Amino acid sequence: MKKLISNAAIIGLPLAALIMSGCGPSVKTYDSNCNDAANGAIVATKVAGDLSDMNAMAAAWDGAQCTSVMLYPQKTVGTNDQAVNEMMAGAKGVKASVKALYNDSKVSLMVYWNDNDESFQGMTSDKYSDGFAVQFAQNSSDASKLPYIGMGSDKRPVIIYLQKTTKATFEPNGKGDHAMQRADQSVEKFNQSTVDGVQTDELKKFHESVTALGDKDYQKAFIAEGFRSTTEIREAKTSFDASMTHAGEKYMAVLTRDIKDSYLDLSSGEFPVALAVWDGKKANRDGQKWLSGWVAVELGKKDGKLVQSITEVPKGDVVAGKALAVENCAACHLFDDQVSAAPGMAPNLSEIGGQATSAYIRESMVNPSAVVVPGYNRNAHPNFAWYELAGNKRVSTMPAYDWLAPEQQDNLIAYFKTLK
Ligand code: HEC
Repeated sequence: MKKLISNAAIIGLPLAALIMSGCGPSVKTYDSNCNDAANGAIVATKVAGDLSDMNAMAAAWDGAQCTSVMLYPQKTVGTNDQAVNEMMAGAKGVKASVKALYNDSKVSLMVYWNDNDESFQGMTSDKYSDGFAVQFAQNSSDASKLPYIGMGSDKRPVIIYLQKTTKATFEPNGKGDHAMQRADQSVEKFNQSTVDGVQTDELKKFHESVTALGDKDYQKAFIAEGFRSTTEIREAKTSFDASMTHAGEKYMAVLTRDIKDSYLDLSSGEFPVALAVWDGKKANRDGQKWLSGWVAVELGKKDGKLVQSITEVPKGDVVAGKALAVENCAACHLFDDQVSAAPGMAPNLSEIGGQATSAYIRESMVNPSAVVVPGYNRNAHPNFAWYELAGNKRVSTMPAYDWLAPEQQDNLIAYFKTLK
């Protein structure tokens, strides 16, 4: 099935014809005026029909309510690409809208956001694709101990579904064809002579053959306990389907999966998800993306406990909290107007309020080793590793602030929740 749908492909006409004629089967876009998820949940609508072949144009979406979810640039951990780091440092949040449908066996989420052009990953590595991902907590029975938002953490696994707008991806190992692993880095190995101004270009032929072999679609499921421990889940083990439709300067992305499989059981009817989008034009890739915090999804009417726990912010004094943060945290962390810490010494906390729950911030403060942010490199800062290894357990190098009075903790959390 073709998963990347653009205006023209849907109706089988060139895009220009669609704009000119203004008729034919219409390509819908959806209203982005939605209620804010910060105060509630994504409430799914039950449908009688089949959800096994969903995309954004399905009529069933018209009856679903939409919820706004803010996604913030992920700054916690930088990359080795300084240009991307700088771009992300200045980036603002992206508003996405979400609709949800379910029936007895499946749940379908549609996420839509503005992105005025489509980017596709090229066969060379200087172009990046757009993409979206939905992350689920494998266990969310204790809402105060949800996985680390950036791809889970030790003993708190997440399941992630990822769809990218790659036109063709080729995985030599998946296809058992290692000869194709030769990449553009070995350009000199290809004969690129020119005959009568036309390149006999072996490299081009190579690209063509790879494109012909490649998957037209890049969609994957992962289980992860931190971003360096991702394992792909093969399709036989989890039933899901994703698609991205681009129309009207928007992406409309849909993920449909079983309510229950051997990896994830969502049948309690109330579960957290986190959303991520990548903008290829901005060289987004891997960890460089826009990411939401945990947001509750409700299938049917629930008691709202999960929503309450995820969205709760302690009543605290933000000004007093900032003073405490400057005094206790700014030596290691960058946040707000605090720039004294050396970059890379500790996670950047500038977006922590948009991505972390209060419970997570509290736990990080009083028990830093409960969730250890892995960092892209343990030795990212030459003099200060983020964690030490005790056997194979990670122990945070951050001191515990369990000695702070409860009011002081509340003030700090109230302050950090404002950072986004
Ligand atoms: C001595 C350096 C140091 C100090 C001081 C420090 N931290 Fe940290 N902090 C770290 C390191 C290193 C990590 C990454 C390892 C981990 O997750 O524990 C971290 C992680 C965190 C995280 C998790 C970040 C994320 O992206 O999930 C939070 C939240 C946090 N610290 C809050 C605080 C607060 C609040 C204070 C002050 C009360 C503070 N830290 C003081 C070094 C420090």
